[in-house]
Amino acid sequence: MDAFVINGGNTLGGSIEINGSKNACLPLMAAALLGDQPITLHHVPRLADISNMLNLLERLGCSIDEHDSGDGRSITLYAEDESLSLAPYDIVRTMRASICVLGPMLAKRGEARVSMPGGCAIGDRPIDLHLRGLRALGAEITLDGGDVVARVPASGRLRGNTVFLGGAFGPTVLGTANVMSAATLAQGTTVIEAAACEPEVVDVARLLNSMGARIEGAGTPRITVHGVESLGGAEHRVIPDRIEAGTYVLAAAITGSRLRLTNYPADALIAAQDQFERMGVCVRAADGPDADPLRRTVEAWREAAVRPTTVSTQPHPGFPTDLQAQLMALACLADGNSVITERIYEQRFLHVAELSRMGASLFRQGSTVVVSGVEQLVGAPVMASDLRASASLVLAGLAAEGETVIRRVYHLDRGYEQMEQKLRTLGAKIERVDERDLAPVPG
Ligand code: EPU
Repeated sequence: MDAFVINGGNTLGGSIEINGSKNACLPLMAAALLGDQPITLHHVPRLADISNMLNLLERLGCSIDEHDSGDGRSITLYAEDESLSLAPYDIVRTMRASICVLGPMLAKRGEARVSMPGGCAIGDRPIDLHLRGLRALGAEITLDGGDVVARVPASGRLRGNTVFLGGAFGPTVLGTANVMSAATLAQGTTVIEAAACEPEVVDVARLLNSMGARIEGAGTPRITVHGVESLGGAEHRVIPDRIEAGTYVLAAAITGSRLRLTNYPADALIAAQDQFERMGVCVRAADGPDADPLRRTVEAWREAAVRPTTVSTQPHPGFPTDLQAQLMALACLADGNSVITERIYEQRFLHVAELSRMGASLFRQGSTVVVSGVEQLVGAPVMASDLRASASLVLAGLAAEGETVIRRVYHLDRGYEQMEQKLRTLGAKIERVDERDLAPVPG
């Protein structure tokens, strides 16, 4: 296993390009299962989760062609063999997002068997809403040997219906993508109420519409899908990753640096930018007024001391849970007390104990953490435990005095492409090493 060794405390500078979005890419790739022709995705990030999804799609009969089209990595996917319908446990357990093949496979192949995803480090993460939505479209769903087994009704097709997808923690992003994707091939019209409004859902709808689907309202809480007989192929450029973008803004802020970010999805980061401004972090356009609001060039820097804040994570367009851990790293250095509340995954605080090891002053009660700003973080050996918690430790390490060693960075590799290389081009002192070459952790 790899680890990062960071020598913190120095200023960064320069420019980086934001990747295509991991969380958009996964359901976009699953859409290949719906079409009669190949789909090509451009700007696909090189990440462990994407490799897992490619592996899964291959096992489901898709041919895969990867090439460099001058627009990042491009991947063409074509569902050649539709006789397969099992998403096995050995892949699903590596990536919960495998569940997004369920809706497309069911709608196109008439049946799907997907190993039930387990919980993960950030919480239980049930899939009841996915199943509720597909059942409302007429699917018969049973659980067999740890697999979700879904079949279309006797008529041979799903049928449109009105589906309410709100849950105890709000809407579901992948659940919305799953039901919306399945509904494209259903007989009649489906209305999804309490749909997730995340930009990734909008991107999936865009691809499906270019394949011939008739989806309206994606990006709002009510999505209408008029079912069609079949879908064709399409070419699609994946939206930039808003979480990677926000993480690099915070890297500029926590190190007191100025960074230029290209392919920056400003329009998808309104709530985050509001928080950044409140904390004294500036993000300003460095391109013309006609630039695509999802692909801007911006400069990010911090003007003065970090100001404390109060923030609750919320479904889009609220502040994203996927930036909570990274924002907390910055709040650790604020001039005062911040209050950070997690409303999507109440247990998503694995970074709290590790940040405390680096000198942060944190007090957690339930789903709220009170962060008392300190003048300086100090380097320490810490453990990455989930994707975004790991990113927050990298940010803390960049700002800390001395050496920080972050073990188990495979979590980070799931969602950040070559993070250490990107940071090194910006001047950070960060190395990837084999954990076996590190001195053992005392005790
Ligand atoms: N939920 C249910 N029942 C369901 C589905 C979800 O109760 O059937 C609950 C969840 O437990 C959670 C809330 O609803 O409390 C929202 O979960 P959601 O379904 O929206 O999450 P997801 O679609 O599984 C995606 C991202 C996550 C991101 C969430 C929320 C992907 C691959 N994953 O997950 O990303 O945190 O939306 O925005 O798109 C990450 O990238 O680090 C990450 C965890």
